[in-house]
This record gives sequence, C-alpha cells and structure tokens, in this order.
Amino acid sequence: MNSQPVKGTHDLIGLEAAKARMIEEVFRGMAELYGFKEARLPILEYTEVFARGTGESSDIVRKEMYTFLDKGERSVTMRPEFTAGLMRAIVSNKLYATEDLPLKLYYVGPAFRYERPQLGRYRQFNQFGIEAVGLDKAEADAEAILLALQAFAMLGFERLRLKVNTLGDAESRAAYRDALRAFFSERIDDMCADCHERLRLNPMRILDCKVEADQEIAKGAPRIKDYLSAASESRFYKTLSILNDFGVEYEIDENLVRGLDYYSEIVFEVHATSKDGTDYGALCGGGHYSGLIEQFGGPDLPGVGFAIGVERIAALMEKEGLFDELEDRLDVYVMPIGEEALEDAFAITTQIRCLGYSAETPFAAQKLGTLFKKATRRNARFALIVGEEELAKGVAQLKNLATAEQKEIKLASLEEELDAVLGEEEEHHCHCGEGECHCHEEE
Ligand code: HAM
Repeated sequence: MNSQPVKGTHDLIGLEAAKARMIEEVFRGMAELYGFKEARLPILEYTEVFARGTGESSDIVRKEMYTFLDKGERSVTMRPEFTAGLMRAIVSNKLYATEDLPLKLYYVGPAFRYERPQLGRYRQFNQFGIEAVGLDKAEADAEAILLALQAFAMLGFERLRLKVNTLGDAESRAAYRDALRAFFSERIDDMCADCHERLRLNPMRILDCKVEADQEIAKGAPRIKDYLSAASESRFYKTLSILNDFGVEYEIDENLVRGLDYYSEIVFEVHATSKDGTDYGALCGGGHYSGLIEQFGGPDLPGVGFAIGVERIAALMEKEGLFDELEDRLDVYVMPIGEEALEDAFAITTQIRCLGYSAETPFAAQKLGTLFKKATRRNARFALIVGEEELAKGVAQLKNLATAEQKEIKLASLEEELDAVLGEEEEHHCHCGEGECHCHEEE
C-alpha cells in the first residue's frame, strides 16, 4: 500500500500543528476583539455555490475545483474558498433577517484547490478569514484591513507590504472590461491559451496572467483609474484616507485584480518579503464584494472580507525565526524508580494534570539515566523522581531540569510546590501592559 500522502496534501504533526494553531489563534483572537463571531461551515457544497459564487472566469472554478458526483448523482465540490459558502449559509439561515447588520463572521479550516504544488502552495491548505456583510462603508473596508495588519503585527511580522487597488462599481467595471477587450483583442494572437479564454470570459483576468510575455503586453493596457465612476473613486480615497489616519502604509497596485469574480470597489493583498529579500507573495487577500448574497436568493447586501493562507504564513514565520518561542514543553516528567512505584507515579501524574500542569510518566520501570534522557527529549521543565522508599515517607524529589536544582517535597503539598515554581512563570507572561505588573496584588 502506498504510504505517501495524496499529492499536494501534507501532514502537520506535533510542533508543526502547534504552529498552524498559533497562527489561527492569533487571527481568531483578533477577529473576536473586532466583534466577529465564528461560522463553521460544511466542506462540501453544491458545485453551483462556487461555480457561480466564486465565479466562472476564475482559475479556481475553471481548473482547480475538486468536484464529483455523490452517490445520489449530485454534483458537489470541496470548498476552494469560504466566501461563497458563507454567503450561501447567510441566506440558508436568513441571518440578514434575524441578526443586526453588519453580520461579522470568521471561519477557519481546510480548503482545496487542484493547483501545481510548490513552496507554501498546496492542494489542501488551511484558510482563516473574516466577512462583514451588510454595511456599505469605507470604514468597514478599512476595519478589515486593520484587523489583518494588527494580527500580522502580533505574529511578529515586520516586512509586510499592503497592496490596494479598486475595481470600481459594476458600471466602472463594465466600461473597463470593454476597454480591455478592445485592447487585448488586437494582441491576443501573441498571448497564452488561458488568456484566449480569459478574453472571452472576463478580460480583467488577463491582468493576473503569470506568463511573462503576457505581463509585458498587459503593461500597455488601459488602467482602471480612467474608468472609475465618481462614486467609486471617492469611496476608494475615503478608505485610503482612513488608512492614512491610522498611519498604515500601502501601495496602490493597478494590476491587482484578484483571482475571484465577486469583487467590486477596493481589493487588497498583504505581501511578505523574506529576510533575504525574496517576495513571498500574498499571505492574505480580500476586498469588497456585492451581488453575492443576492445570487443565492437573499437581499442585495455588500460585504468585505479577507482570507489568509495558514501554511504560507507558517513557512514565512519559520524563515523569519518567529516561532522561536513556540516550544513543545512539558511541565513535569514523573519518574518512577522501581516496579513498586509505577502505580503511585501514574496517580501522581494524574493529580498534576488535575492541577492544570502538563505531565507524563512512562508505564514501565526504567533506569534513571534513560528517564532523564526521555525527560530532556520531551523538553520537560521539571522531573519528579518518585522512589519506593520515598513514597513510603510521602515525599519525592523535584528537580529543575534547567538549573539542576533539586529539592525534596512533601507529596501532600504538591500543589503549593508546583504553583511556586510553575505558577510563577504565568506571572511573567502577564499581558496587563504595566511595566511592573500589579495584577496579582489587586486580586
Ligand atoms: P485567495 O486570495 O484566493 O482569496 O486566498 C486567500 C489566501 O489563501 C491567499 O492569499 C493565500 O495565502 C492562501 N492560499 C490560496 N491558495 C493557496 C494554496 N493553494 N496553498 C496555500 N495557500 C493558499 C480567497 O480565498 C477569498 N475568499 C478571500 C476573501 C474573503 N475575499 C473576501 N473575503
């Protein structure tokens, strides 16, 4: 039997899983600070949710979806992204009628795209994202961007570039598409096969083509800014002025059209550069959209949101050394000395866990040297040495594995002893913001 994972999928085990979880938790915490609530959505949707929602001209729908007929002959698709599915859920649950607007929801989980696997690009990957639906305001757009940047800053990122552009309203885009169609029709014979189809479905997609010769041709294409309606232009500059007020740096990238069909008005991406200066591409992409809720039979409500790629962020954090403090640590490794001590060691280990400290013990008597090696491999802070004779006296040896300090403790006062050495660390991690923390004095 083949033991390789399916091409483009990967296993995240132990510390690797902890890294992904840390990123998700920072974004989750930030979304909750901004008033977003979680939405857990099905991975499978009827294919039309994405075919029509994400958009027929997108590469995702044209080439990358995991679509199949289920046993009832229904065409279903494993979500390539969350936004279209969330809009479907908002309509299915009539949330727009029962909840205050804007609806502010976040999500996290796997998404699937049949892409060419490469560094940080997988066929199954994890996204975290937010959507604020039902408020057509520049402030809502700015809020989404601020949330993303604040979360990236919390993760420790320093070399990020926020790219923004506007795609205008439906009217601006229609005029722009006509202009692009006219421009590219004359040059299409020299362009790639994909661009031929893009010209037919949505010429704006051509601006996203990765083929160098096509990019060269696209440099001479008409610019969206010349086709913007007055309303779209002022909306874009309103969002930018809010970003200016918050001291957020951005670059306007007129080629940023985003690969999904639902966007209108502002679109944005957060790009990262690695320490050695290589552009790592987009870690986060999003923008404003309209018409999606309506497509599913709901009212005409606009929205704004973004999604991050968890693996891409993890890969870059790795390169930047931003995971250095993330350790897979164990508080106490309980070492039974001799067969007779095994049962008590298990009971003490359980007691330590009940006190809220992580603990492990082997279920076999082993040599002290072996036990210390295991404790080191397990990255334990303390060893609790439980010998038969000491147990009879109700004591054990607590050894600090970093300093090698060792002291005899009474098992009856295990809680106080562990609080004294492990509880203390909690205080160091207090985030009250005070130079000298006084939280505990107030309690
Ligand atoms: P997207 O740009 O297609 O947007 O994906 C968002 C992020 O997911 C990307 O910036 C990238 O970091 C990550 N990503 C995409 N494909 C892969 C892959 N194959 N492997 C690893 N990471 C990947 C969306 O999905 C929109 N739904 C975002 C949005 C939300 N717009 C409005 N609301």
